[in-house]
Amino acid sequence: MKKRVAAFCSHGGSNFASIADAAARGEIPVEVVVMVHNNARAGAKEKAKARGIPTEWVPRKRFATDEEYAAHLFAILERYTVDIVALAGFMQRIPEEVVRRYAGRMTNIHPALLPFFGGKGFYGMRVHTAVFEAGMKVSGPTVHLVDEQYDHGPILLQRAVAIDDCRNPEEIAARVLKEEHRIYPEAVGLLAQGRFQLEGRRAALIPS
Ligand code: GRF
Repeated sequence: MKKRVAAFCSHGGSNFASIADAAARGEIPVEVVVMVHNNARAGAKEKAKARGIPTEWVPRKRFATDEEYAAHLFAILERYTVDIVALAGFMQRIPEEVVRRYAGRMTNIHPALLPFFGGKGFYGMRVHTAVFEAGMKVSGPTVHLVDEQYDHGPILLQRAVAIDDCRNPEEIAARVLKEEHRIYPEAVGLLAQGRFQLEGRRAALIPS
C-alpha cells in the first residue's frame, strides 16, 4: 500500500517536485496527494499544477491563534488521509499539536549537515553563507524527523558533498540542492516502508 504524502512548501518547491516525480516513476511507495503552501506566490504551485496535485493555500495570518491554525491543518490532513507530512522549504512554524500528532511521520530537509549550521535563524542562504564563511570543505543535506525544536529531530539521511572548490555561498547552495533532490525522495520512501527504527535520538536504518 502506498503511503499518502502531503508536501508543505513556501517557495520554489523543487524538493516537493523531486518527491512527487520519484513517486510517479514508481521508485518509492508513496503518492503525493496534496501540496500545502503558506505563500500565495510560491513557485511550488505551478509545479503542483503541472503534476495534477491539488494545492491548499494556508496563510498563517488568517488564523487568530495556533489552535485555529492547527485545526485547519488537521482538517486538510484528514481530508486527504495523509500518512506522512514532508516539509519541503516550508518557512512557517508548525503548531506543536500537529507536530505531536505526526510524530515519526513528519520530515524536514535542511541544507546543511545537522546539528551544525541549524536551528533558529539558519534558513535559506543564511545557512550557506555561514558554511562558506566557516571555510567548510564539505556540506550537504540532512533529512530529519520533526520534533518540537527547530532542526532537532532524529536524522534519517544525511549526505556530504565536497564544496572545497565553491567560490561563493550560491555555488554551495546549488551543489547541496542537487543532493537534496536525491536524498529527500529516498528518505521519504524508506520512512514509508517502515525502514527506520528509533533508538533515542538515533534513527537506525533496518537492512532490507
Ligand atoms: C531547500 O534548500 C531546503 O533545504 C530548504 O529550503 C530550500 C527549499 O527549496 N529548507 P525548494 O522550495 O524545495 O526548491
